[in-house]
Amino acid sequence: MEEKKFNQIGVSFKGSGSYVPDQILTNQKISQKVDTSDEWIKSRTGISERRISSLGDNVTEMGYKAALNAIEKANWDVKSIDLIVLATSTPHDLFGSAPSIQAKLGASNAVAFDLTAACSGFLFALITASQFLKGGGFKRAIVIGADQLSSYVDWNDRRSCILFGDGAGALAIEATNEIDNFIGFDIRTDGERGSFLNLPSKNAINSITNNIDFLSGGFAPIQMNGQEVYKFAVREVPIIIEKLFKKTDYSSDKVDWLVLHQANQRILDSVGDRLKIPREKILSNLEKYGNTSAATIPLVMDEAIRNNRIKQNDIIATSGFGAGLSWGAALIKWG
Ligand code: ACO
Repeated sequence: MEEKKFNQIGVSFKGSGSYVPDQILTNQKISQKVDTSDEWIKSRTGISERRISSLGDNVTEMGYKAALNAIEKANWDVKSIDLIVLATSTPHDLFGSAPSIQAKLGASNAVAFDLTAACSGFLFALITASQFLKGGGFKRAIVIGADQLSSYVDWNDRRSCILFGDGAGALAIEATNEIDNFIGFDIRTDGERGSFLNLPSKNAINSITNNIDFLSGGFAPIQMNGQEVYKFAVREVPIIIEKLFKKTDYSSDKVDWLVLHQANQRILDSVGDRLKIPREKILSNLEKYGNTSAATIPLVMDEAIRNNRIKQNDIIATSGFGAGLSWGAALIKWG
């Protein structure tokens, strides 16, 4: 690869895109499967319906469509893209789905890889890509969050199956030598509390030949301690955002939008209240899509950009949190 040299100091945001499957699963339909109700789900989570993949929808397809959308908005030639980072916990190919997305896009000059950090994945991927851009050598990046948790949900477990849906979102970001719209970030992991939320491997013992066994691959459905995840989110997310404000000399009143991982409306409201950010500044599309894991942040941002809510130069405080446990925050200026 030819060595490229740029004098870049920062990152700017050039476009957004998203995709969700057509199939809609309403609360009412879930209540035909498990003992729950629209009223219970809505009042505890804010979710009314979610999208579920059918044949033809998978992380590669969804991520590709979201990425294409973002590239069109950015008005980029696909050959000018240097980097594609796909945040996902549910790849279509365990060896990585980003290379298939690169091929489908025809972005043959881009290095492409997957990154896994569950519901924090998009934020971790955005930070990773921004460091590649600021470090030099990479000019244009597509950051994708895509997940298909419907394949790993226990549809008989009413405590968790009500929460999740499928989808994808993407942002196009570019290195710049004039401004830096990636104002700051902070990220954390606490593996000690990892057992609150897992999608563990589940192996069966099979024989290859006499006396030699192997473990066939597979995964158990999602296991979640909802109350502990809830307590973790409402405690840690305001702390990390406040820390970031301090570090960057920002404060709640300077923020135009709070864009949190869309896990549960009660988590969004509680974090907003602790940060003293009014409800009208907190983006939410939980009602329509539920928790799409790594996809939630770019999905809700893309919607707000297309609806002309997020505008050029708006200040956005964003936070991802989830399994790991992992969490983080970033402060950006759109544009
Ligand atoms: N319908 C009806 N009743 C239900 C349902 C349901 N879908 N789910 C649980 N219940 C019942 C329980 O059985 C329990 O009944 P009991 O008192 O008779 O035993 C009662 O409701 C209360 O159960 P809790 O688990 O205490 O309910 P809670 O108020 O905590 O709400 C919820 C559950 C909505 C899951 C909440 O804990 C939550 O949102 N936690 C955060 C989870 C989350 O966001 N996870 C994703 C994180 S991101 C990632 O990385 C994937």
